Amino acid sequence: MDRERPGAQEWVPGDGGVARLREAVQGCRGCELWRDATQAVFGDGPADVRLMLVGEQPGDREDLAGEPFVGPAGGILDRALEAAGIDRDQVYLTNAVKHFRFEERGKRRIHRKPDVPHIEACHPWLDAELERIDPAVVVCLGATAARAVLGRAVKIGEERGAPLGLGDRVAVVTVHPSSILRLRDRAGRDAALDGLVDDLRVAAAAARAGAR
Ligand code: URA
Ligand code: SF4
Repeated sequence: MDRERPGAQEWVPGDGGVARLREAVQGCRGCELWRDATQAVFGDGPADVRLMLVGEQPGDREDLAGEPFVGPAGGILDRALEAAGIDRDQVYLTNAVKHFRFEERGKRRIHRKPDVPHIEACHPWLDAELERIDPAVVVCLGATAARAVLGRAVKIGEERGAPLGLGDRVAVVTVHPSSILRLRDRAGRDAALDGLVDDLRVAAAAARAGAR
């Protein structure tokens, strides 16, 4: 790791629960993304759940609110969770990268995808969440989450919707809700949302079945 990106490891507390991690992440300097962001956005949800959902990184609204999935992508995710019969309050929601990466264009902050080194620098936080929450099933929302969780490049179209082995857990890869927002026509959006719902159902069934 270069000096710009030493990685988050030295900021991650070795003990304590998620609340302790959430506090500590505000001091993280594991990569340069903390500089321009308002705050780190850590995961949210009960600590005793079997299902964890991982997104990419906080967006503009999440960066301001300090909570994951409260903006437009969160709206789509809420609809999909409800359709899949999953209570949002009964999952742990987090992101592969904890600080918002963006470009300023006039007054707007335009989302920029994190690069692989950002995903790697931030990985110790995700690892710590996995260890503390210990979910049976991890849903990867999009390619960034899949790369972070599975540690390799993943083609969503090829691997989505089927339980994948992840040590003693199961991972289910699906699309990112933002990809649905970007679709132009209504029929395409509806079909993409149905696809996300189907994949979430697979994850919920695996969690119920006691994937381990
Ligand atoms: N997109 C994400 O991946 N995560 C969020 O928290 C919000 C939007
Ligand atoms: Fe640390 Fe992750 Fe924020 Fe980088 S993005 S400063 S590694 S919390």
